[in-house]
Amino acid sequence: MSNLETTYLGLKLKTPIIAAASSISSQIDRIQQAEKAGAGALVIRSLFEEQILQEALKFEEDLAVGSESFAEALSYFPNIEFGDAGEHLMWIRKTREAVDFPLIASLNAYSPGTWVKYAHKLEETGVDALELNPYAVAVNPKMSGADIEKTLYDVVKAVVNEVKIPVSVKLSPYFTSLMNVAGELEGLGVSGLVLFNRFLQPDIDADKETVTSKMTYSNPYESLLPLRWVALMSNTLRLDLAHNTGIHTGKDAARALLAGASVVQVASVLYRQGIPYLSTMLHDLEAWMEERGYSKIEDFRGKLSAQEVDDPFTYERAQYVNLLLDQK
Ligand SMILES: Cc1cc2nc3c(=O)[nH]c(=O)nc-3n(C[C@H](O)[C@H](O)[C@H](O)COP(=O)(O)O)c2cc1C
Repeated sequence: MSNLETTYLGLKLKTPIIAAASSISSQIDRIQQAEKAGAGALVIRSLFEEQILQEALKFEEDLAVGSESFAEALSYFPNIEFGDAGEHLMWIRKTREAVDFPLIASLNAYSPGTWVKYAHKLEETGVDALELNPYAVAVNPKMSGADIEKTLYDVVKAVVNEVKIPVSVKLSPYFTSLMNVAGELEGLGVSGLVLFNRFLQPDIDADKETVTSKMTYSNPYESLLPLRWVALMSNTLRLDLAHNTGIHTGKDAARALLAGASVVQVASVLYRQGIPYLSTMLHDLEAWMEERGYSKIEDFRGKLSAQEVDDPFTYERAQYVNLLLDQK
């Protein structure tokens, strides 16, 4: 039997497949299912600033007219299943007691003070690590790329200084110089990067002439963007890389590990196939390792990273040029 153990953010994981941040973490029995199926860890769905505002509103309402009118006041805010920030934190504490595998909290805020305050509160719940999810669409024409990066660095620096647990950042793929941003984050003390955040895109229903926003699951083709960047970053950076998006099979996980990822994070496949399918993925990964005589992850991790392959430009422009030439 192969050994699937790996380390991520300084944590020892039994397997390299992590349940990504998603609503799977809204029910304890589903979290227990993920642990039973062999997930190395689980990222709890993000605590969003909207939930924190919801809590602030609740407090003001309680002070003003008593808690009975709270439900009405809340209807002004987006419907967030997880309740307010206090409930979210309480929920994480309960989850911590119910499972043994590592839990990673996730935070998405926009004001600097909120990032720091809630990073600390999340740490106090007993989670093993913190994933920062700086999901925001840059629409302010007055903010340059450098401004946006500085805002990110300021937040990350403040959070890393505030908490003792390891911190990872779930990055957007849309930075002009990803390698530079990754290097800066490493310099600030970030322990890992999650490549990448998957932005849901709004759509337009031409029949109803309305804007729609619906959840779509990823497809395996989407794994190629993170795969390329894992391969490019894994020899250059010391921090850990989590491949996120489009991992649907054990072999997909093998591809990410070959590129140099420490772990893969999965969400869509667990919704499509059910949480127990995670054990099939692990079984398939193990079978793939055994066929090749790999007894542990380190036997092959990074074997196909950019610096290990004969032609490192395979991961850059050369690949595209070759394809064009092949077609002539
Ligand atoms: C139902 C659902 C809820 C999600 N909620 C969060 C969230 O709270 N925070 C977050 O960072 N990502 C969230 N995600 C994104 C996933 O963590 C993951 O990055 C994305 O789905 C890509 O991975 P996949 O290809 O395995 O689905 C969610 C995804 C799904 C499907």
